[in-house]
Amino acid sequence: MTNSELIKQLFLSFNNKDNDTFIQTAREYIEREKRKKHTIVAKGLEKALFQTVGTANTQRRFKQSMPIPRDTEKGFPLLEIQHFEHNFDSLILSQDTKAQLERIIREFKDADILATYNLSYKKKILLCGKPGTGKTFSVQIISSILNIPLVYIRFDAIISSYLGETAGNLRKVFDFIENGTWIVLFDEFDIIGKNRDDNHEHGEIKRVVNNFLQMLDNFKGDSILFAATNHQNMLDSAIWRRFDAVINYELPDELTRKQLFQHYLRSIKHDKKINFEKVATDSKGLSPADIKMIAIEAMKTAILDSRDTLSMNDLETSIKQFIARETIKLGNK
Ligand SMILES: Nc1ncnc2c1ncn2[C@@H]1O[C@H](COP(=O)(O)OP(=O)(O)OP(=O)(O)O)[C@@H](O)[C@H]1O
Ligand SMILES: [Mg+2]
Repeated sequence: MTNSELIKQLFLSFNNKDNDTFIQTAREYIEREKRKKHTIVAKGLEKALFQTVGTANTQRRFKQSMPIPRDTEKGFPLLEIQHFEHNFDSLILSQDTKAQLERIIREFKDADILATYNLSYKKKILLCGKPGTGKTFSVQIISSILNIPLVYIRFDAIISSYLGETAGNLRKVFDFIENGTWIVLFDEFDIIGKNRDDNHEHGEIKRVVNNFLQMLDNFKGDSILFAATNHQNMLDSAIWRRFDAVINYELPDELTRKQLFQHYLRSIKHDKKINFEKVATDSKGLSPADIKMIAIEAMKTAILDSRDTLSMNDLETSIKQFIARETIKLGNK
């Protein structure tokens, strides 16, 4: 095959969405450049190919070439594509919740095997639970582990546009995600529930909800769709039924709180007198996000005092300050 035939094959395979041929042809061309000792050219091409198709999930990533959908009236982007590099160990949850997430990952990885039995991996997942318990974080982690970019959709961004535009916006979002393989997160999904009592917007919101549910039902893509809310009781059964799995994020128990403190304080030396059991008891009712904040403040205190070792006092003070802050918040309600 001549070089120009090779390029032609590249174009045709791109046009036919034939990922295997596309990659094979591109590789062949790169090999030819290497044989000609055009090392810099070959490296440049390899890098470009890597950016186009990625290392893992080669075939899946390749489809994604649509422009990001925008709101017709105001022109703002309706979604954001995000990349993360977290590892699963940085997510600290009860064993049960973690097992449910692991299962979702396994089903997706083995989707081909399931398909031979005419079974599908879990595709639509609802994450519920208090603020700061790790719902958004979990989806970022799944995106990291599967090495698939996250499509982040703030539900309120879609809804806050002009009345009547909303359905169109949703359609655009679904068209985009159906065209590729993504980890999709409809975050702050509770806007649907929250607005139910608001008479002025009631009709419109109801239409949006129905629209969303229909699109969810008809969704055919190769992605995993997550929706996250911290007002699960506002969602009615029609919504619940649509999901293949509902995962509930509880506030951490004592053992999990201890693990969270140890995790978020791992980058500093600890005084021997630090009693993690006591710290875990004192932080009852706090979320992982709260604990992270307390840990960071405590570390900063030690560092600002020019100490390389964290003391029990740093931690206790930080917890007290945090709780005092929460009291102000509650008092203002
Ligand atoms: N289970 C967890 N393990 C480790 N870190 C956590 C966990 N949960 C939350 N965090 C930390 O707190 C941050 C905020 O959490 P996250 O945004 O995931 O909360 P959320 O459940 O989505 O809350 P909200 O309902 O307010 O959206 C995370 O980015 C992470 O750093
Ligand atoms: Mg969140």
